[in-house]
Amino acid sequence: MSAPNIETIVNLSKRRGFVYPASDIYGGLGSAWDYGPLGVELANNIKQNWWKWMVHERDDIEGIDSSIIQNRLVWKYCGHEETFNDMMTDCRECKSRHRADKLEFEGSMSVDDAIAKGIVACPNCGKKDLTEPRPFLTMLSTRIGAVADEDDYYSLAYLRPETAQGIFINFANILTTSKRKLPFGIAQIGKSFRNEITPGNFILRTREFEQMEMEYFCRAEDAPRFVDEWVENYLEWLGSLGISRANIDLYEVPKEELAHYSVRTVDVMYRYFPDRDEESRQWDELMGIANRTDFDTKAHSKKAEDEEGNRINPDSTDDLSYFDPYTNERFYPYVVEPAIGVNRTLLAVLMDAYTEREGERGDKRVVLELKPELAPINVAILPLKKNKDEIVSLAMKIKRDLSRSLRAVYDDTGSIGKLYARQDEIGTPACITVDFESLDDQTVTVRDRDTWEQKRVAADRLAEFLGDRTSFAAD
Ligand code: GAP
Repeated sequence: MSAPNIETIVNLSKRRGFVYPASDIYGGLGSAWDYGPLGVELANNIKQNWWKWMVHERDDIEGIDSSIIQNRLVWKYCGHEETFNDMMTDCRECKSRHRADKLEFEGSMSVDDAIAKGIVACPNCGKKDLTEPRPFLTMLSTRIGAVADEDDYYSLAYLRPETAQGIFINFANILTTSKRKLPFGIAQIGKSFRNEITPGNFILRTREFEQMEMEYFCRAEDAPRFVDEWVENYLEWLGSLGISRANIDLYEVPKEELAHYSVRTVDVMYRYFPDRDEESRQWDELMGIANRTDFDTKAHSKKAEDEEGNRINPDSTDDLSYFDPYTNERFYPYVVEPAIGVNRTLLAVLMDAYTEREGERGDKRVVLELKPELAPINVAILPLKKNKDEIVSLAMKIKRDLSRSLRAVYDDTGSIGKLYARQDEIGTPACITVDFESLDDQTVTVRDRDTWEQKRVAADRLAEFLGDRTSFAAD
């Protein structure tokens, strides 16, 4: 069983410190969220897991961490300044603002026609009186420098809407320093920003978010098969995070919906809205895998030409073409890009891990069945008596020892039943209790989150016993 709806996760997140509404004490900021003590651990674990899988375990991927703010020309030449728009419409009645392509109505005509005919209802007030859709630039901008000069072209800067461009503009640097040959990839994790017209659904759509992107540079003829390969790779990786295949779907993006740089995109969809009546409305995008062609490598190159033989980029000082030493050809590499959001992954991981069970007294118990390597806390050490000095000091010593290799916490703030329940609810795979017997024979009780089974283990063998075990059921 996964979470019945996002609301359940919102409540759990706030109650237990995964995610809080940002600027809450000033009334919030509409769609901005802060990650609390458990949320930051979970997000870090997801990012580390991705980096290890994507960069460390492969032989063909380099890492990078590029600047969020780049020269404005980056966004001019990659086409974002001109095309990174959403079509926006206003409700004349209640003044709310909406993304035209997300509006629902009966019939198969275009949304523009449907709005003109007055058959589209405002999702906020229900009135069918919307303005003609018009483009809205969704890049967030700022002015840089001590004296922000409106007339200075370069004082306007954008907060990047994707991490990808920081990778493209460093392609030649990485090629030179790493001596790579195609195919190879460059990976990056970092914040991106979009002035979304209708953010919402908790951390699913926000104006500030984090992406894990990888740009895989290859020959044109290899790009189609690499798209398929990365779809398969990601299905496997998402499974390894505990996301069930039943909650994942693949969506072949139709030609008319493709981004300006893509000839094929496969979206990996997650069932974020299981409580919606219609199956088709239960899904939203978790990530996309695109064949970006040679659009970006050409867009930033000083020698690249368009179909009429005109130079595409008179401002670039470098050329992102590649010389293939095996075929003696020079060409602009194609790029296959798997792009996934940290926040959407975290939400999917939480939703899939959420379970409810009956407790020993017939009560409802929430157990977050997170993969142990993702759990914010690996092990909790709980003294059975908090006013017995020897028990407390043995428990604290165990905590200190385990902290060298695991995220361990000490907790004596409740009865043992309550402490177990709290750790279950945040997904801690193992709890250790220290009791009177421990003082005599130096053994402790280890309790498994998933089976609630308990075992007696020698205190000096705990690190080895816990190791990377997921469940006692494996014994
Ligand atoms: N470089 C390609 C690119 O950025 P995208 O589909 O626009 O493609 C990739 O974004 C991923 O980033 C999405 O699949 C999603 O996981 C995440 N993402 C995009 N916009 C987001 C937003 N407003 N809030 C949270 N995550 C977002």
